[in-house]
Amino acid sequence: MKLIQTGKYSRVYYDAASESFIKEFSPKFEDKLRYLLRFKPYPGMNFAHIAQRLGRLGVVTPEITEAKPYRLVTRDVHADAPLCDEIADSATLQQQYLDVLELCWRNRLFCRGLHTRNFLVKGGQLVAIDLDAYKDCRWLPFNRKEFLYCWESVLGKNEKFLFPQLLIRLGLPADFMHGQLKADKRH
Ligand SMILES: Nc1ncnc2c1ncn2[C@@H]1O[C@H](COP(=O)(O)OP(=O)(O)OP(=O)(O)O)[C@@H](O)[C@H]1O
Ligand SMILES: [Mg+2]
Repeated sequence: MKLIQTGKYSRVYYDAASESFIKEFSPKFEDKLRYLLRFKPYPGMNFAHIAQRLGRLGVVTPEITEAKPYRLVTRDVHADAPLCDEIADSATLQQQYLDVLELCWRNRLFCRGLHTRNFLVKGGQLVAIDLDAYKDCRWLPFNRKEFLYCWESVLGKNEKFLFPQLLIRLGLPADFMHGQLKADKRH
C-alpha cells in the first residue's frame, strides 16, 4: 500500500492490487465523542450517505467497496485529471462544477472543501470525491452565507470569476456577501 496523503485527521493510501483508495480517519477526541453520541455521523458512513444523496441528484461519485466508521475504501475512478488542472480551459467543466455547487446549495449539502482538487474529471464528466467532509443539512440549519463564503475562499485565483456566476444562478444579488464580510472582520 502506498501512502498518498496525510491530512490532519485522515490518511489516504492506494492499494494497487485492488486499484482502491483507502481513507483512514483519526479524528480528534471531541469529534469521536460526537460520533459516539450520534451528534454527527461517523466519517466513513457519512461518505457513503453523501455518495447516495449525490448519486440520486445525478452527481457521479466513486464506487464504495467498504464503509466503516473510521475507514472508507473506494475504487480508483481512473480519472483523466483533477478538475483544478482542466477547469480553466473548459466552459463545459465550469458549467458542470457550477451545477454541482447549485445542487449542493439547493439540497442543503454543506461542505467547506468544494475546491477543484476534490473533483476529478473522467471522460469529460466530473466525479466528486472527499465526501466525508460534506454535511447533510436536510433537517439541520443551512448557513447560506457561510456556504458561499467557504466556497469563495477555496477558489483559486483564476477560478474566482465563477463566484458571481453562481450568485446569478442562485438568483442572488451581486452584493449578497457584503454584510457577511463586514461581520467576519469584526471577529
Ligand atoms: N476513488 C478515487 N479515485 C481516484 N483518486 C482518488 C480516489 N479517492 C481519492 N483519490 C485521490 O486521493 C487524493 C486524496 O483523497 P481525498 O481528497 O479523499 O483526501 P484528502 O484531500 O486528504 O482529505 P481532506 O481534504 O479531508 O484532507 C485525491 O486528491 C485524489 O487524488
Ligand atoms: Mg481532498
